[in-house]
Formats: sequence, structure tokens, C-alpha cells
Amino acid sequence: MLLDGKAVAMRLREEIRTEVETLRPALGRAPGLTVILAGGEPASRVYVRNKRLACQDAGFNSELVELPPSAAQRDLERLIDKLNGLDEVDGILLQLPLYPGLDSQALLERLDPSKDVDGFHPQNMGRLALGLPGPRPCTPAGVMALLKHYGLSPSGQRAVVVGRSNIVGKPLALMLGANSLEANATVTLCHSQTPDLREECRRADFLFLALGRPKAVSADMVKDNAVVVDIGLNRTEQGLTGDCDFEAIRPKTTAITPVPGGVGPMTVTMLLRNTLEACKRRNKL
Ligand code: GUN
Repeated sequence: MLLDGKAVAMRLREEIRTEVETLRPALGRAPGLTVILAGGEPASRVYVRNKRLACQDAGFNSELVELPPSAAQRDLERLIDKLNGLDEVDGILLQLPLYPGLDSQALLERLDPSKDVDGFHPQNMGRLALGLPGPRPCTPAGVMALLKHYGLSPSGQRAVVVGRSNIVGKPLALMLGANSLEANATVTLCHSQTPDLREECRRADFLFLALGRPKAVSADMVKDNAVVVDIGLNRTEQGLTGDCDFEAIRPKTTAITPVPGGVGPMTVTMLLRNTLEACKRRNKL
């Protein structure tokens, strides 16, 4: 089975759009997301564009604040302070990575946690670790929503996450291991210092790849009938690819995500969901 993230993402966006229309009269405006772009990564520009287009499609107000490479930490602090204070801004997204020399962690900590639609503020990451409600990082939330849509429950299963970034691997491991019906997996978190990655992966009923290296995972590293979720997005001469050898691995799996068209569109949908939830909570709707 191919996990069609694009189709699922579009269906969920339709539901969000309907809810936005319902809320608008009481709110008197559209839910608002402001994206801060202060980095030179070409991929960031593409991601930001996708996020803003999805916002507009769903009936959100979307603003972009772009800062030049000469921007100082103090400029970003002032901007975040201003956005924290604007009532019509429900969500603030600081696109990562930032230009060299800027301290992203300090800026994430400066966000009003109630407007932190990435779920990256330590308070929200802490809430995730404690199993308390709050905004969840969009990529892992998209992975969980995709599994749920296809009725693939990791409960009682062995889940292996490869990659321990704060954006994907670490929060995903916490979400999979959470004490809830949709999670309840036994989780192994692998990284660059894992002694035998092949053996760890081979034990996985659910294998989640977030290394950022094309074809890093070959067919002999995958258990028969595993569910493989490829969260990698690598630019190669053959175009965009994930972290696994898709063609070789696909016949062994029960389900697998394509790249592109798998997790990526789900990430953007979870951003919309987090923004809508932030808007409702802040406006007591
Ligand atoms: N850069 C790559 N992925 C993300 C993400 O999910 N959120 C933000 N803010 N920056 C990113």
C-alpha cells in the first residue's frame, strides 16, 4: 500500500477550510499566521511558499516577513516581540535554519508559547514530553495523522526512528511512545552513533526515516511486512528523493510513503491545524 500523503492532506485541509468559514463570523477576521524568513537556504523559500499558499487556500490570513542576511539578533527579537503583541496574529513561524550567527534557540524561546504553531518552544516540547495537550511539531504530527488515516496503529509494535533532530526525530519518538491508543509503540531512537543501524532497523515493525541522506536505508535493512515512513527530502541529480531505496524496499512492505507526496503535504496541513487551534484557544472559541 502506498500512503498517499498528498490526498490525505488535501482532505484534511478541506475540513479545516470549512471550520474556518464557520468561525469567521464570531472571530470577525481570518485566523492569521505570520512566517519569518531570515535564512538563505533555497529549500526554505520553497517550504515557506507552500505554507503560505496552503494558508490562503484554507482561508487564513498569511503574512511573510523577510529579513536580509544583515539582520541582527536584536532585529529578530524586536520583530518577535511585536508579533507576540499583535492580537490578529494567531501563529508565528520562524523558518529554520536562520542565517549564520543568529541564535535560533533564543528566538524560539522568545515566542509567545500560545502562538508557537511549530511546537518548538521549550514549554511546548516539555508538554509533549509530559503527555500534556499542546501544539505538536508539524512533521511528526503529520506522520501520526497519516498512520491514523490508514488505520495503521503502532500500538504494541516495535517502532524505530532514525534521526534525532529537535524538529522531527526527537518529537516523533516521544509521540510514538506516548501513552495513548494511537501511539503505545516500543520506541528505539537511532542516530549517527548507533553501532549497528542495520540490525536496529531490521527489528522495526514501523520504520521512520529522518536522516536526510538519499538511499541511506537499503532493502536488507527492512523487515518483511514493515510499515516504512520516509521523512527524508533530498535534492539529487535524479530529483527529490527520500532516505530509502524506495523501489527495492516497496515490495517488502505492508505500507510505504512516496517522496515527494508522502509526509511533506501532511506537515503543511498540521501547520494549518496548529494555527487554527491557536486561534480558537486565544479567542476562546
Ligand atoms: N525547517 C524545516 N522544517 C521546518 C519546520 O517544520 N518548521 C520550521 N519553522 N522550520 C523548518
